[in-house]
Amino acid sequence: MTPTPAVPAGAPARAKTFLMCPPEHFTVEYAINPWMDPALPVNLVSAQRQWGELRSVYTSLGHTVRTIDPEPGLPDMVFAANGATVIDGKVLGARFAYPERAAEGPAYLNWFRANGYSTVVEPAHVNEGEGDIVFARRAIIVGHGFRTDKAIKHEVAALYGLPVISVRLVDPRFYHLDTALLVLGPDTAAYYPAAFDGPSQATLAAHFTELIEASEDDAHELGLNGTCDGRHVVLPVQAAGLAMQIKAAGYTVVPVDLSEFKKSGGGPKCCTLELR
Ligand code: ARG
Repeated sequence: MTPTPAVPAGAPARAKTFLMCPPEHFTVEYAINPWMDPALPVNLVSAQRQWGELRSVYTSLGHTVRTIDPEPGLPDMVFAANGATVIDGKVLGARFAYPERAAEGPAYLNWFRANGYSTVVEPAHVNEGEGDIVFARRAIIVGHGFRTDKAIKHEVAALYGLPVISVRLVDPRFYHLDTALLVLGPDTAAYYPAAFDGPSQATLAAHFTELIEASEDDAHELGLNGTCDGRHVVLPVQAAGLAMQIKAAGYTVVPVDLSEFKKSGGGPKCCTLELR
């Protein structure tokens, strides 16, 4: 049994609201990224326990967690980060690259319509929500190359009125931006340089004044797939080196074990959609 993570005392720098989707129907039954192997069984009981621990960590830190009902036949719906992008209460829906996940787009859009969101935009271009559209306060960073269509940047800019920075992902193991970039603050982020092409590495280095470089080992643990509330960083427990680097930058690291979800190419951030 995984020990319950130790949660440090103290209120978060910013209390947040997250949307999560319980892993009732989670499996790996198709392969749309290099982590997924349908021959490797998922332990659903462990997955549900790990997901419950992540939710408890958020509530212990003072955050609010809302949930969306999981739908049968959509095993990846648990990865709520891909369901939409929400900034200033304005929702940009997702449109998935693979048919296996296509029905998740409308499922999430319906949740927002049913929960009182007045600006809910159906996207014209393929995009996998917050997996590839990362809010960095002064700007929004959009990752493309595997899932999200580069042209989504125009929709993002029009809806949110913030500068949009595009970066290109080049390693199929880091198929979503949130597997290779972890924004900690307006000027601070951690990233795995080799996941990006050269110009995009330079773009990130120019944007963030403090840029923590994750090691290959930590990146391969999907260690960058964490969340930050300004003080606490909820991070995959396997990324021990990255945890030390992030602590050295002044943050409190809260480790979580989502090993069952890694079999699908996911981690804590993938299971979390921030409702800003
Ligand atoms: N199996 C899912 C997929 O390949 C994992 C999604 C992970 N989500 C994320 N935000 N990185 O689409």
